[in-house]
Amino acid sequence: MTTQTITGIEAEINRLVGDVGSLPTPPIVFSQIQKVLTDPNTSAYDIGGILQEDPAISAKVLKMTNSAYYGLPRTIESVKQAVVIIGIEAIKNLVLSASVIDSFSKNKLDREFQDYFWRHSLATAFAARLLSRELSGQKVLDTESSFSAGLLHDIGKMVISVYLSDLAEKIKAEKIEKPYLTDRVVENEIMGFDHTHIGAYLGGHWKLPAKLVEAVRYHHDPVACENPENGLPHLIHLANYLALHTFDLNQEEGNKIAIDAVHGDVLEVVGLTEDDLLAYAPALRDEYLKAETFLEMARGAA
Ligand SMILES: [Fe+2]
Ligand SMILES: [Fe+2]
Repeated sequence: MTTQTITGIEAEINRLVGDVGSLPTPPIVFSQIQKVLTDPNTSAYDIGGILQEDPAISAKVLKMTNSAYYGLPRTIESVKQAVVIIGIEAIKNLVLSASVIDSFSKNKLDREFQDYFWRHSLATAFAARLLSRELSGQKVLDTESSFSAGLLHDIGKMVISVYLSDLAEKIKAEKIEKPYLTDRVVENEIMGFDHTHIGAYLGGHWKLPAKLVEAVRYHHDPVACENPENGLPHLIHLANYLALHTFDLNQEEGNKIAIDAVHGDVLEVVGLTEDDLLAYAPALRDEYLKAETFLEMARGAA
């Protein structure tokens, strides 16, 4: 089954999800912002105006702007002001984060999974942001899209949990029986494709920027990405590994989870050893303390 072509996989996902219309849609405000961003004459003021049309998303963006994530010295009171202070690119990514969290946090099918999912996604997002700053001399990676790519990288798992719940149950049972197998191996065994395919499919449906979709699709195998200009799949691969090592593998023996080995070629590209990478764990733990506002949103409390 794993030898299926991409088109074959897409057709299969299409069939499984039923009709594309049943997947969550991004709020109109996100596509509007994406559209105007292609116009070089777009001002921060225009973006603020678009955002004001959606009070719920505006409120979330303001909350995130004022959270410890940015550590701003004073409280920002309007979205227009927020756009000027943190920049258009940052706002676009905050809108994306707020939209994704919003679309999926209403489903409370498997609370335990959802809780773990957001904690891991946020840990990876913070790791990606940290690494993009640290490795800025190596590749041109902006910290904001690194954060979004980290937050979204496993979104395919959320789609499986919410929309393909029968398969999710099978995957869960198989994982319990064979804890030494990675999620991706089990998913491929049961479905013939994995969460990276489904995540990229959702990203395409949402018309997300291509480099973000590539990061979702290739975060487990960045060297397979055909666009060498895009450093995001490499970065997210490392961020995912760092997040799992920092927060999951340090638990007691019984809770250890199977994770993919870090890709040697990827380490080489960024000029790090595995030990160098894992040395960022304490910094990631500190950074992660800023995740509180995002987690509250995922729990539907904000
Ligand atoms: Fe993954
Ligand atoms: Fe992950």
